[in-house]
Amino acid sequence: RAEIEAILTRAKDFQPFEDSAFKRLDVLRGKMIVNLFFEASTRTRTSFEIAAKRLGADAVSITAAGSSVSKGESLVDTLNTLAAMHPNAIVMRHAASGAPHFLARYLPTPIVNAGDGTHEHPTQALLDARTILDHRPALEGMRIAIIGDIAHSRVARSNVYLLSKFGVDIVLCGPPTLLPPDLARIAPGVTLTTDIREAITGADVIMMLRVQLERQHEAAFPAGEYFQYYGLRLEHLSLAKPDAIVMHPGPINRGREIDSEVADSQRSVILNQVENGVAVRMAVLERILS
Ligand code: CP
Repeated sequence: RAEIEAILTRAKDFQPFEDSAFKRLDVLRGKMIVNLFFEASTRTRTSFEIAAKRLGADAVSITAAGSSVSKGESLVDTLNTLAAMHPNAIVMRHAASGAPHFLARYLPTPIVNAGDGTHEHPTQALLDARTILDHRPALEGMRIAIIGDIAHSRVARSNVYLLSKFGVDIVLCGPPTLLPPDLARIAPGVTLTTDIREAITGADVIMMLRVQLERQHEAAFPAGEYFQYYGLRLEHLSLAKPDAIVMHPGPINRGREIDSEVADSQRSVILNQVENGVAVRMAVLERILS
């Protein structure tokens, strides 16, 4: 908890001020950060790269499709090859849960998890917490509803681990096939429901999740009915606290998990989350490398 608080406090220093150009710092001058993404990304990869450059580091981004992975090179060989070029850190996204942890045991280079399979997305949870704290004085005592494809969501898992350290009342909601019952036991303060209206009632924060069709090997629900039962619409907002905020890690699928009227409403902080992605990743990189 203390480490999370330190990162969130430091990230505030890196938030952009209105009407002021961001000054490039030099706390990581001379450092090299490699972004290695084996899965698609817009927000995470770009924000890690911007964060590194704003701190004065050099940053190189590599995708699986544009690397020798597409020629059959293994994950270990790819990482060993990159490590031989002596980067100071490797930021890594991979479809296999645990891949960054496995590699961190064998490589001397610090590895930052930018999302591993269905396991964790720690910097997403940190930027989500930073965004909530930009709208609320404290996390303690809040009710946060996380709604959607819970089973495949590394964002949900990392948020549960983070928020449970702050006494948050966490409600996980989704279709029964995407809501593993054992998630109620992974951390204190977690309850489950399949009823979106029950989840949203009294919520301070409504966090919507993308349906991760790429991780589903069989149909988990009738495709045409998802939005009817689990899509967030304007009518739902009246059930939440009057000043409740709506979050989504992105990418959003309008009309599948969230209505455009909600995504673009005053309640939505989705683009604030993206802004905070840069600030939080600056704080993380600085903490690891400076
Ligand atoms: N939230 C998130 O991880 O987005 P990207 O997949 O675009 O990085």
